[in-house]
Amino acid sequence: MGITYYEKDRLFKLDTPASTYMCAVTDEENFLGHVYYGPRLTDHDAAYLMRTGEPPFVPSKSNRERLAFYDTFPMEMPTHGIGDFRDDALAVRSVSGHSAVKLGVVSHEIYKGKKSLKGLPATFGKEDEVTTLDITMKDEALNMTVVLSYSAFEKVDAITRSVRIINNSSDDIVLTRVMSACLDMDNENFDLLTLHGSWARERHINRRPLTRGFQGLSSIRGECGHQDHPFMAIMEKGADEDRGQVYGMSFVYSGNFLASCYVNQFESVRAMMGINPEDFNWLLKPGEEFTAPEVIMVFSSEGLGRMSRTYHDLIRNNLIRSPYKDRKRPILINNWEATYFDFDTDKLVGIADQASKLGIEMLVMDDGWFGHRDFDDSSLGDWYVYEDKIKGGLKYLVDEVNKRGMKFGIWFEPEMISPDSDLYRAHPDWAIQIPGRTPGQARAQYVLDLTRPEVVDHVYGQVKAILESANIEYVKWDMNRPLSDMGSSALPPERMGEMFHRYMLGVYELQERLITDFPNLLLENCSGGGGRFDAGMLYYSPQIWCSDDTDAVERLLIQEGTALVYPLSSMGAHVSDCPNHALGRVTPFRTRGYVALAGTFGYELDVTRIPEEDRNMIPGQVKMYHAYNDLVRMGDYYRVSSYSQNNEYDCYMVVSKDKSEALVTFVQVLNRVNFHSRKIRLKGLDPEKKYFVTFVDEDEETSAKNGGERTYSGEILMKAGLLIPRPWGDFHGMLISLKAQ
Ligand code: DGJ
Repeated sequence: MGITYYEKDRLFKLDTPASTYMCAVTDEENFLGHVYYGPRLTDHDAAYLMRTGEPPFVPSKSNRERLAFYDTFPMEMPTHGIGDFRDDALAVRSVSGHSAVKLGVVSHEIYKGKKSLKGLPATFGKEDEVTTLDITMKDEALNMTVVLSYSAFEKVDAITRSVRIINNSSDDIVLTRVMSACLDMDNENFDLLTLHGSWARERHINRRPLTRGFQGLSSIRGECGHQDHPFMAIMEKGADEDRGQVYGMSFVYSGNFLASCYVNQFESVRAMMGINPEDFNWLLKPGEEFTAPEVIMVFSSEGLGRMSRTYHDLIRNNLIRSPYKDRKRPILINNWEATYFDFDTDKLVGIADQASKLGIEMLVMDDGWFGHRDFDDSSLGDWYVYEDKIKGGLKYLVDEVNKRGMKFGIWFEPEMISPDSDLYRAHPDWAIQIPGRTPGQARAQYVLDLTRPEVVDHVYGQVKAILESANIEYVKWDMNRPLSDMGSSALPPERMGEMFHRYMLGVYELQERLITDFPNLLLENCSGGGGRFDAGMLYYSPQIWCSDDTDAVERLLIQEGTALVYPLSSMGAHVSDCPNHALGRVTPFRTRGYVALAGTFGYELDVTRIPEEDRNMIPGQVKMYHAYNDLVRMGDYYRVSSYSQNNEYDCYMVVSKDKSEALVTFVQVLNRVNFHSRKIRLKGLDPEKKYFVTFVDEDEETSAKNGGERTYSGEILMKAGLLIPRPWGDFHGMLISLKAQ
């Protein structure tokens, strides 16, 4: 495994346990061409796949048919303006006004381990976990260097790629487009799978055939957003959960992105991912360099399921840094859906009183505790305690909660500023805006100009002071509007096109400072629900609030799409009250619990006011969380059958790495009359092992009647299946535990 350079063929071979990636340097112009990405190979003799000898595209010293060659050659870093008329990964504006770039390989370096990316989130790995290849390329005319960094992981089938650009000339160069990864492949009748949604409907899976021309997805909202997601998978037509070849690309970045596929005249596909070139111009002064964020590529020849499990392993072990990544998170109760803005110390202590008796471990005080915030139209930026509500002060409240044996967490929205705030009155220019225009508000708020170091310092100082004022062990970091009216009074005109990316660097710096100064803090990111649930944010926080939709049925779809890439341990999921606040549906409390158990687990309700019958179920749910969270957090996730496909029920399972334990979640969304029990073929078990099956949360008699409380072989459960009785009514769930004997 690792990375090998074959001098004779000028070819690089990157190996992971089950995949190989190859690229090679052409003889004439030292272009870096894509050779192969797919199942693991032992041989490397494949440079012919670049088709450099295939008429009429033979590069000719006479220059006669050079463009025909450029327009079809599988480039690793396609550049603008030289005759490759597909979309490109790199374009500039030079002092002379030209946009073309032409790159030839000049050197390379292979080393153990992986360097961090300055100011950016990125995967990491020790010397025995990952090997890195830096390929240095140069545009001689511009005197500009481009370093492509590829890292191949030893234990998971993941390869990352990032790009660094250095201006070695004595003139300014403006980067107008820098894509981080490019995959040029023949289109073998591929499908494209992407994630889309809306507020409260994030990351629904969408699959369609790749077709001629452009297709893809993007964000220009300053965050990845609820609508499109910085991930795509290119799949063989017949590939499904368990079979077929799948190429995943996931962007470790939280701002504007572009993920695109272009299928050209020769039916080859160019898949690219990077910072959205729209509204991006980066001025590189002589000697300066720019680093573009990294893309994680995962190849699976065992369908989407294997791809997901690879992303989960990589993200858990090589992206999330929080000490909480390997720990059970405290079961929290958040007061947002319980009280919205209508709370005070007494109400919160009342909730903590009840919650602690039921086994809940942490109270999170959500929006409304600062400035004079009684609704969403004021006080963002004034991060001092609203004493009328938090009577006795924050420390008093936190101490009262601690006295009840619970931890305390708090909500912030540090990136924002309300027009009605002391901060805005003192520094109106700190809001992002364009001189001469009134910036648009969203949720009655503006966005702080985090491209300015003094703004970053000020916000951080306020957050830090609050965290130091009491025993606060958790922060929910919210972000409730997209960016618009991009203008900064601190940036010169020639740097205004850097604003979106500089904003993200400001956010990353803020969070880096927070987790450095408070290393034991549990940080949960959030953006109006799941508007910034991405690999970039997971570098700072081990969990992200998945969605403002807490309805158990909607969550099946949202959590399925999220778990396509991200581990269950990162998905913020809570049990809420019914009728559900997002869409009015009533589901059984038990089912709400089962669905939330697939994530971080917590409550989002007023425990003093919910029906007694529901409240009485909480200790049982708490017990289940403690019994199964290690498995859910660290195990392998398998989608068994999806409600999004079958319109009737949903079933997924988690299997421990040693296959000694598994937990199956089944939710019958819509009941149907007069059918047999449902036969479900389980996955991921050890065929040689015998498993004792229990329908959790049922009494022994019901469990036995359901076919539980008996032993089955792993082989039978996977090949023949388990019979699941049909619950009476809609929206009922079941949790089935398997323990190897
Ligand atoms: C959006 C979040 O997703 C909610 O959970 C809540 O924190 C509100 N913001 C508060 O304004």
